[in-house]
Amino acid sequence: MDWPKGIGGLCYGGDYNPEQWPEEVWKEDVALMRRAGVNLVSVGVFSWARLEPSPGSYDFAWLDRVLDLLHGAGVRVNLATPTASPPPWFGLAHPDALTVTADGTRLTHGSRDTYCVSAPAYREASARIAGELARRYRGHPALAMWHVHNEYGTGCHCDHAAAAFRTWLRDRYGTLDALNDAWTGSFWSQHHSAWEQVMPPRATRYLPNPAQALDFRRFLSDEMLAHFREQKAVLREHTPDVPVTTNFVFGDWVPVDHRRWAAETDLVAVDHYPAADPPQETAFAADLARGWAGGRPWLLMEQAVVTYTGSRMIAKRPGEITRLSLSHIARGSRGVMFFQWRASRGGAELWHGGMVPHAGEDSRIFREITELGALLPSLEEACRAPVEAGAAVLWDAEAGWALQAPGLPSTGLDHTGTVRQAHRVLYRGGVTADVVHPSADLSAYRLVLVPALYLISDDDTANLRRHVEGGGTLVVTYLSGVADPCARVRTGGYPGALRDLLGIRVEEFHPLPPGTALALTGPGGEDLGTGTFWSEHVHLEGAEAPARYGTPVPAPGIGPHDAGWGAGAALHGLPAITRHRYGAGTALYVSTRLSDADLSRLLGLEPSPLELVRRGEWVFAVNHGDDEQQVPDGPLLPPGGYAVRRARQG
Ligand code: GAL
Repeated sequence: MDWPKGIGGLCYGGDYNPEQWPEEVWKEDVALMRRAGVNLVSVGVFSWARLEPSPGSYDFAWLDRVLDLLHGAGVRVNLATPTASPPPWFGLAHPDALTVTADGTRLTHGSRDTYCVSAPAYREASARIAGELARRYRGHPALAMWHVHNEYGTGCHCDHAAAAFRTWLRDRYGTLDALNDAWTGSFWSQHHSAWEQVMPPRATRYLPNPAQALDFRRFLSDEMLAHFREQKAVLREHTPDVPVTTNFVFGDWVPVDHRRWAAETDLVAVDHYPAADPPQETAFAADLARGWAGGRPWLLMEQAVVTYTGSRMIAKRPGEITRLSLSHIARGSRGVMFFQWRASRGGAELWHGGMVPHAGEDSRIFREITELGALLPSLEEACRAPVEAGAAVLWDAEAGWALQAPGLPSTGLDHTGTVRQAHRVLYRGGVTADVVHPSADLSAYRLVLVPALYLISDDDTANLRRHVEGGGTLVVTYLSGVADPCARVRTGGYPGALRDLLGIRVEEFHPLPPGTALALTGPGGEDLGTGTFWSEHVHLEGAEAPARYGTPVPAPGIGPHDAGWGAGAALHGLPAITRHRYGAGTALYVSTRLSDADLSRLLGLEPSPLELVRRGEWVFAVNHGDDEQQVPDGPLLPPGGYAVRRARQG
């Protein structure tokens, strides 16, 4: 049960919000959906206020008509539970269930996601509306899948959250002694002598406790998962044959460990909105989603027809909607869905675009949407074989959260950013990589990259060791293996857990002042580029040093005695990149930040704007560049061109 009921091939469609439009528009909607080849729409995501206009009184008549209309047009429905946006009456009836921020502000209704996931009233109301929907539509022929909630990810710091956090901590640690030990309670008099003293990380005087902050994120992830599970159980009871999913959102702000959640969804579904570098960001998101899905099918549930950069909403280039969609499909998505079907004419997201834009059907966007809909069925065969990935990049939500603590040796430390760089370099070098958790089975990969994996467990360390012992190559970057799962330093020299595997011992960290660089030189004095941002005093303990720190290049205005710089300069001649034979494999360590070009050279890669993904005998090729590109043993692709073909086709 891992695919929307009634859909054999790829899914195509988007969020459909008919409640925003008069009924005459609905008829035009389904006619245009047919024209575009749409076969699945997500309905009702934010419709709670229309479904339950006042507490306990329901209005399903309009939704009945929508589902019947869609069914008549052969469009299947991914029916949402609307719990991401409780109606205005809910907050007035249950003020204790509205979000409280870390500084104690209680939010009011007026946007969305304003609830506390631990508040009993919210939990009850969520299960109730899910149950009403399930009872009403369990026999409806259009029902293909359940879409629980929307983009889980908002936390709360209220007293309900505090009580639930304590329960979670008791389950995790058992005793207060164990909690005090995990949180290093002996520091700054934070030893708790009763459970009631334990709080969520609320606004406080100075640096908060990093282990408390990390555990609170873990708790929020589990607490939201409990809310998902409750709804899933209700839906399952009424519709045991309908898959249940929720749409995952990307971003380090989300306290959701999607890898753990993935196992609880029948289908992994993700939303993705690339910003600065859409092709590369798309490849990263798709490879990460594939990692979450762990070999199961997954689905791009939402993308946009425009590019949101944070400050502007930019029209996509001609053909870009198709190219990015193809990239998702090549990397394992079994369909393409959008936010949203028809661009809203009012409300907070009226400028977020739609498959039917404000201009209507006579538009470049709708023409491209229709072309994409016609293309998708021809790709089904090529999507059957698994994506072939020769390399893996390790990513762990918890390691990323731990690096968001204040008080680290440098600002700007960023696990996900470092993972993205590693992935980007592989992507540009034509290597398809899986993005997986450090506990994943690594036996299929020749090359595994471990970028700034600050926090690592003993079990995951053993997993990395097995990979190298078995003949694999591991490339570990600075600040990996340093801390244990409680964000406590592993003492005796960095990189703690990975010292013996890497054959090194790091005595000190030397974060570099912005703009300064250390030259990197090979054994024969050859120029191997520069290191920036970070450097370390590395001792060899079995490893060799293919690159050493050379001449320092201070930023203008930085002198030899300026803080940070003098220490950086003291590394002259010491190891910067190390290589260690271990078992049948090799473990490299990079103790500084390399540019993309230098990392690419270290890995022996040649950058190219041609995206190539192999799946069995099929190759997906997309030219994201401005020049023609030759597909190996294949056609010459014009700028923006693509080809999906059998590898050995003439
Ligand atoms: C998505 C979200 C939608 C809508 C969209 C805006 O991530 O699920 O509800 O907000 O972003 O582009």
